[in-house]
Amino acid sequence: MIDLREILLPNIPDDNEKREISEITESLISGIRQILARDGINATPVLVGSTAKHTNLKNADIDIFIVFDRKFSERQMESIGIRIGHEVLPDGIERYAEHPYVSGYIRGRKIDLVPCFRIESNTRIISSVDRTPLHTEYVLTHLDEKRRNDVLALKLFMKSIGVYGSEIRVQGFSGYVCELLVICLGSFQKVLERFASQKGRLVIPETTPLAAKYRSPVVIEDPTDSSRNAAAAISLENLSIMKIESRLYLHSPSKSFFTKPQQEKPLPYKDRGTCIRIVTLPKPDLVDDVIYSQAQRARKILVEHIVDTGFHYMDSELYVGNEIEIMIETESATLPGVTRHVGPPVDTPNSMAFIMKWKDGKSVRGPYVIDDRICIDAPSVARDIETAIFSAFSGANIGKNLDPVKGKARIIDPSGSDTAYMVLGKFYSRKIHL
Ligand code: UTP
Ligand code: MN
Repeated sequence: MIDLREILLPNIPDDNEKREISEITESLISGIRQILARDGINATPVLVGSTAKHTNLKNADIDIFIVFDRKFSERQMESIGIRIGHEVLPDGIERYAEHPYVSGYIRGRKIDLVPCFRIESNTRIISSVDRTPLHTEYVLTHLDEKRRNDVLALKLFMKSIGVYGSEIRVQGFSGYVCELLVICLGSFQKVLERFASQKGRLVIPETTPLAAKYRSPVVIEDPTDSSRNAAAAISLENLSIMKIESRLYLHSPSKSFFTKPQQEKPLPYKDRGTCIRIVTLPKPDLVDDVIYSQAQRARKILVEHIVDTGFHYMDSELYVGNEIEIMIETESATLPGVTRHVGPPVDTPNSMAFIMKWKDGKSVRGPYVIDDRICIDAPSVARDIETAIFSAFSGANIGKNLDPVKGKARIIDPSGSDTAYMVLGKFYSRKIHL
């Protein structure tokens, strides 16, 4: 048996860190209170997030929300909130995901200051952050001290296997989802047993109407708002990884399931007898969630186009560092000059339309018949992978902020040099944690 307390000890804050967190928190909260009083603003600073819920691992961020009365307009709430944020976090920078906030550092610790509206459970929200103070309240009243350790162990496990975090880069399990899993299922062990035995989607509670409403792989009804799926961010891939790793852990528990994941490192090209290209794009100066959602979209457009063009697609990978790197692997770098289009069966009425479309020399050969199908050979749209990649981007909108820079896309053939690339490192070392 693994002693979870022993595993947790080096990964949770010691007395020093706890003291530091409360010092920083108290000084920020009292600083914000003073500004609010000075300016006569009806709002309250509230500590939320894992440090408020006592579910913080070592070096967690501090999340403080400024909760405004509903008589403020959304614009007032945001602009006053941001101004106060800058006043108490002098080196803070303004960030914008769904909602603006100020993010900065105090004594090396990340601080997020987020303005939001005061709401009650199951009432309408303006922005999703308005629910966060309710989450804090819910977890504080439903998670006892013993089970906090189960949450911490679950977070550590998920971090180690790479599925922790609801940001778009990860598409994994948020801290709040970990808390809800332990509250609903009872313990770290029970949560893993559930994932290990789960077939298909994970739905909690099993009777929730949200399951029919949403198609997400994981559905967990938010107890503070029954119309919301708290697990909407989790990808199918991350659910699958969690199932398989839970099974591996229960089969042979080991401390290695709680160690830091291997640092991603760059690797040079290794010949696999395939064709590998790396497409780079300049990275716009925006929050990660915005960059990743557009970069993932660009990757998807590229892959779909490569498949449509007739290349035999094998795999792709994305890495965002100083620039955006998208890697694509196909069976070969060139296509034959012609591609066969298999048309409809001769028995169907569509076969006439197909013949009309391709008659008069529009095909390289045909229309001709193979078995019961009408076929033609068309000239390949692109014969080499470079042409296909270029036309993928020129013919599509790859996102509001990436589209303007797509002219700066570079296509690299890594096979000719020893240069190491992060995206190749990620690709060659992709493997479940064993
Ligand atoms: P955090 O991402 O900081 O989560 O969001 P956390 O619970 O503090 O966990 P760690 O320890 O930092 O990783 C702060 C709060 O914002 C809300 C949650 O209520 C969370 O407690 N939140 C965040 C969500 O509801 N959904 C999300 O996807 C992210
Ligand atoms: Mn946090």
